[in-house]
Amino acid sequence: MTNEIRITRRELIEAGAVAPALLAASEVAAQARDAGAPTASVTLTVNGRRETRDVDTRTTLLDFLREHLGLTGSKKGCDHGQCGACTVILNGRRANACLTLAVMADGDEVTTIEGLGGDDRLHPMQEAFIKHDGFQCGYCTPGQICSAIGMLDEAKAGWPSHVTADVASRPRLDDDEIRERMSGNLCRCSCYIGILAAIRDAGGVA
Ligand code: FES
Ligand code: FES
Repeated sequence: MTNEIRITRRELIEAGAVAPALLAASEVAAQARDAGAPTASVTLTVNGRRETRDVDTRTTLLDFLREHLGLTGSKKGCDHGQCGACTVILNGRRANACLTLAVMADGDEVTTIEGLGGDDRLHPMQEAFIKHDGFQCGYCTPGQICSAIGMLDEAKAGWPSHVTADVASRPRLDDDEIRERMSGNLCRCSCYIGILAAIRDAGGVA
């Protein structure tokens, strides 16, 4: 007699479905252990609405938006500042919400993808992404769009990038500049050609 373990395909799939629930339960347990963790009241204006919540001071802006406000448009990709999926517009500048603590943003203004356009009127950058096929699965898209809007403003303000040849002059927003300025936003579906075309279109780049 052997100790061989037999598992059917169905059992394997069911076990996979249970695993996230167990993980969530372990997170709850961890939170319970940390019940004595310091908390703070945080107030932000998010998409024009003033929101106040008591949060664990270690809560990131991304988790504040997703878990406390239910705004799940901003995505968690790497949670380490490496993919740009969490990009929001913070006080008019693009920012990685996973690298920003909610308490750091107390009193600030945040715009997420939910605040850019409505069902009846999309933001021009959203329209351009649709027009130029700038997404497939769409996971990176909210971050790409927020980043693109922030990037256009940075270029308009004359900020140089790593590839700007003459940092003393106003940068010309060519393809190299757009690619460099968007290099913090990764797309696993590799829609970069469509994203570039969308940004050129929405940004009025010839
Ligand atoms: S989730 Fe923030 S940069 Fe990846
Ligand atoms: S559209 Fe799928 S990750 Fe970018």
